[in-house]
Amino acid sequence: MNSRFALALVLSLSIFTTRIAAAETVWLDDLKLASATQGWGEPQKNKSVGGGTLTIAGKQFTRGFGTHSESTLRLNLNGGAQEFSASVGVDDEVNKNPASSVKFIVLADGNALWRSGVMHAGNPAKDCKATLTGVKSLVLEVSDAGDGINYDHADWADAKFETDAGRPVTVTPEPQLAPVAPYILTPPAPATPRINGANVFGVRPGSPFLFTISATGERPMKFSAKNLPGGLKLDSKTGRITGALKTKGEFTVSLYAKNSLGTTDKKFRIVCGDQIALTPPMGWNSWNCFANSVSEDRVKRAADALVKSGLINHGWTYINVDAGWPNRRDSKDPASRGEFRDAKGNIVLNSKFPDMKGMADYIHSLGLKAGLYSSPGPWTCEDYTGSWKHEQQDAQTYAKWGFDYLKYDWCSYGNVASGVASNLMTVGSSGAPWKKDDEAIYPYRLMGNLLRDQNRDIVFSLCQYGMADVWKWGGLVHGNCWRTTGDIIDTWKSMSDIGFNQDKAASYSKPGNWNDPDMLVVGEVGWGKMHPSRLTPDEQYTHISLWCLLSAPLLIGCDMEKFDDFTLNLLSNDEVLALDQDALGKEATCVINNGNVRIYEKELEDGGRALGFFNLGMEPVKLEFNEFAKLGLAGKQHVRDLWRQTNLADVDTANGVLPLTVPGHGVVLYKLTMAK
Ligand code: GLA
Repeated sequence: MNSRFALALVLSLSIFTTRIAAAETVWLDDLKLASATQGWGEPQKNKSVGGGTLTIAGKQFTRGFGTHSESTLRLNLNGGAQEFSASVGVDDEVNKNPASSVKFIVLADGNALWRSGVMHAGNPAKDCKATLTGVKSLVLEVSDAGDGINYDHADWADAKFETDAGRPVTVTPEPQLAPVAPYILTPPAPATPRINGANVFGVRPGSPFLFTISATGERPMKFSAKNLPGGLKLDSKTGRITGALKTKGEFTVSLYAKNSLGTTDKKFRIVCGDQIALTPPMGWNSWNCFANSVSEDRVKRAADALVKSGLINHGWTYINVDAGWPNRRDSKDPASRGEFRDAKGNIVLNSKFPDMKGMADYIHSLGLKAGLYSSPGPWTCEDYTGSWKHEQQDAQTYAKWGFDYLKYDWCSYGNVASGVASNLMTVGSSGAPWKKDDEAIYPYRLMGNLLRDQNRDIVFSLCQYGMADVWKWGGLVHGNCWRTTGDIIDTWKSMSDIGFNQDKAASYSKPGNWNDPDMLVVGEVGWGKMHPSRLTPDEQYTHISLWCLLSAPLLIGCDMEKFDDFTLNLLSNDEVLALDQDALGKEATCVINNGNVRIYEKELEDGGRALGFFNLGMEPVKLEFNEFAKLGLAGKQHVRDLWRQTNLADVDTANGVLPLTVPGHGVVLYKLTMAK
């Protein structure tokens, strides 16, 4: 053997042994999964997103990454990964819910290497294999397959890399906005009396009437009214109007509020007719903060907090219990374990909610209104008792208890929909409706009619994530508001994806019929795991401005005992809330879309226009706005900055400009009114 040959042999042997030594299986679950972003829940190591054993179509896996659409996990492969493999699918924990559908995608240096196609709950796992030689960065994505994120529990089971050298690492995703400390824009309400809130209220003949005049200013305050129709009386201390109206009619009333510093008055319209919720409902719902750990005590404390915080003086009214009040199927919590219905079919209460009537009475005693939650299916989304086959009894029970609002959530109804006889399904409004639409409409029509039969006004809130274009028929089944999308969470992606995609339904919004882009995610939220909203202050200004422009139901989703000054300020700007509560009921649409800059316009009852200048980009944008003709604006206009509650210089739409700076992910919200 000559020496050159010997050297070559040694070298190649050593390369060979190095290769053998470095070849390694790296399990995805051994990497930092917390870097993933996802639409719901937290990234899970070796568990489903709901915390169970990873299971796809009955097959269990001990290792993997449990996530939820829309999910993105970015990895730097450090040059050595040769192959990625996994078994992917929807986790069985969603109980075959038809709303669940996802797509798994493996992106290598920006190109899709592998796609699962649409996968539904119950589909067997698909084997994913992708060759990675030469790939630098990898992205594992789960999309919602275009139908919203509900029930999209997605498993990357048995996910692993075969590597040659180097070790993949997960990387933190997109660049972050520079942190901005919460900043308050709105001055405190004056000590002199001011009557806030809607200037119209709808009630049905014979229904109990409860309306609390919302007024800011120093207490004590004395309320009075002129031209209050017979049957109604006003409590001068509390500002509560109660009683009942016998017959249909429209009444213009003058409301007065007086304190030691002065008197104010406001015209107020009472419309006694078929329609209620003439302005979008405003209040609180337990889900985004307490999730299943809601209890009667927490609800009463929320009602107290709505009063103590002063929000009641800005028009906030409803205290709504979401999922978690009846008994639960297979409950691990003794407090919600037990019979679901008694021998007569009445829903059975438990130690979490022992006295629904007492709770509703308590809420009413504060001048507020009470809301409840159920499903047309046998079980609600979290497996609590639903109203399936007990609809009439439940509607009567809710009325007997004294509830004023029902959120009715599709949930397990998907499992029974196809079993409903087709002759029950005819909607009658649109000729020969498509069978699938009928299935979507039927349970809501049923409950809508039953609620109408009760002797009190119950706002009917449809929650079925926008299926079958609910905005086209929600009003026909006596719905007052309807969700247009899947569930919101407190991220910019979730809030902005929902908020800036509402134009499709906008023309259906009107008094009594509201599109609902889901509840608010400001303050301490967290679905049982509390944390301050992850939205930046500017994103929160965007959220509230946009929801008000959209005439959305405004349901606070945070723990109201933990209000900070910023959140409270955000929720008590009467000029901003007035856009939401505007009696014309027109939903804003996007009239100018210049990429990152979106300009929303809302027509108002007094002839004015609200304009939201939004910046979807991360860098501040400076505008010299002069496209007034596109907004249908002419002549000279007064300009009011609604967040700051200050007047700016008038603008002549013929040749003037509105100079403005919109922060990254932020908003400038103005009202323009024709100058006389
Ligand atoms: C669904 C709804 C949510 C909430 C939960 C409760 O996801 O869309 O708003 O009510 O159910 O389980």
